Amino acid sequence: MTHAAEPRPSAAPSAQHASTPPRPLRAGRAAALSGTIIVPGDKSISHRALIFGLLSVGETRVSGLLEGEDVLRTAAAARALGATVDHLAPGEWRVRGLGIGTLLEPEAPLDFGNAGTGSRLMMGVIGGHPITARFDGDASLRKRPMGRILDPLRRMGVEVLDVAAGERMPLTIRGARDCIPITYETPVASAQIKSAVLFCGLNAPGETVVIEREASRDHTEKMLAFFGAEVRSEPFGAHGRRVVLKGRPELVPQPIRVPADPSSAAFPIVAALIVPGSEIVVRAVMMNPLRTGLITTLREMGGDIVELDRREEGGEIVADLRVRHSDLRGVDVPAERAPSMIDEYPILAVAAAFAAGETRMNGLQELRVKESDRLQAVADGLAANGIAHRIEGDDLVVGGLAGARRGGGLVRTHMDHRIAMSFLVMGLAADAPVAVDDTAFIATSFPDFLPLMTRLGGNFA
Ligand code: S3P
Repeated sequence: MTHAAEPRPSAAPSAQHASTPPRPLRAGRAAALSGTIIVPGDKSISHRALIFGLLSVGETRVSGLLEGEDVLRTAAAARALGATVDHLAPGEWRVRGLGIGTLLEPEAPLDFGNAGTGSRLMMGVIGGHPITARFDGDASLRKRPMGRILDPLRRMGVEVLDVAAGERMPLTIRGARDCIPITYETPVASAQIKSAVLFCGLNAPGETVVIEREASRDHTEKMLAFFGAEVRSEPFGAHGRRVVLKGRPELVPQPIRVPADPSSAAFPIVAALIVPGSEIVVRAVMMNPLRTGLITTLREMGGDIVELDRREEGGEIVADLRVRHSDLRGVDVPAERAPSMIDEYPILAVAAAFAAGETRMNGLQELRVKESDRLQAVADGLAANGIAHRIEGDDLVVGGLAGARRGGGLVRTHMDHRIAMSFLVMGLAADAPVAVDDTAFIATSFPDFLPLMTRLGGNFA
């Protein structure tokens, strides 16, 4: 097999964060933001594009791939499993995959850096192959729970050879020789759990079924269908889905165009809403309804966000969003909306800090197991900047203090890109500058955040 002759590096594609000195930064009050930007490709779809390339025989071309550190780790892992992954031009990638059932055993541990999604999805992929792989990550990823992935995989025949205390990384798994198709109801709404089970089920005979009480993002199901698998997704209960996948399909390579990431667009959108006089356009933002909870919420708060040109691109609805500064008011965000805006609560908390009246965000328990304990990190950041707030159980309540002086604090980011970006956005509209202790991790998801925000008129030093 020619692939065997390829070097299969599993080492990190870029510097280890642990040894990178922190890069602090301050954001100060900005004049009106203006201009048109396009944010990078969606992180969820970018990870999956590389994985689908790995799992289909032949050549998968990807355009608009997010070249953030998290996704580059997935590219490195795909190479370590035998794929040839080539970077052709900015955003343009080619994956020559091996197909389901023929992945090679990686020669070295797979280091996923900060990337929860890449590592958890790859556990599912490897779980469906009779190979052994060790998974590791940086200090943030080593704190995140992996039992939620290992539990269903064990039921599918995966052996966990070693695992750090509390079912955390570093860990080693041996994939199933004869993968068992299961029916699995996820304990929390998580596209990562759903996707790991489905990826493992690709090499199981018969039907693998995943039931979710609250629907999470559906990129894996959509891409499975696009690559030729037999998969169906039906409503389940009031807000859920039941996904049924027939195992052992032959995935056929397809061209993938990655749409702009709504979770990255969230930062310039909120910046324009809170900086007086602003008017910006964020182009071609993916509007998949399982990802647009923040837009819904910001509109309920009175945010002036208009879709200029709604259209379909590469199997997803996208729209150019025109955003103008708005007088926001506090709202109650229902818990069932959480899966569709799970990564957007830190930046919503910033919008809420500039709204009249209280904003209550219900059901945020999953925020505690993201790149940081985001519920606590957001609360601490708000506290450092004089914003009234309280945590009530799993809910966060922000604002309600008219005339408060905002800003002037130093925010601890805890290796979390979204905490860093959110509080830098706060600084653009605050009364005093907002400092963050480290911007290095922004490169995991939005490497050109600072140049793009500066182009709109952002003020960073
Ligand atoms: C993701 C799912 C979400 C999200 C993460 C990306 C994905 O995590 O927070 O950034 O691509 O599947 P959970 O599935 O754990 O909620």
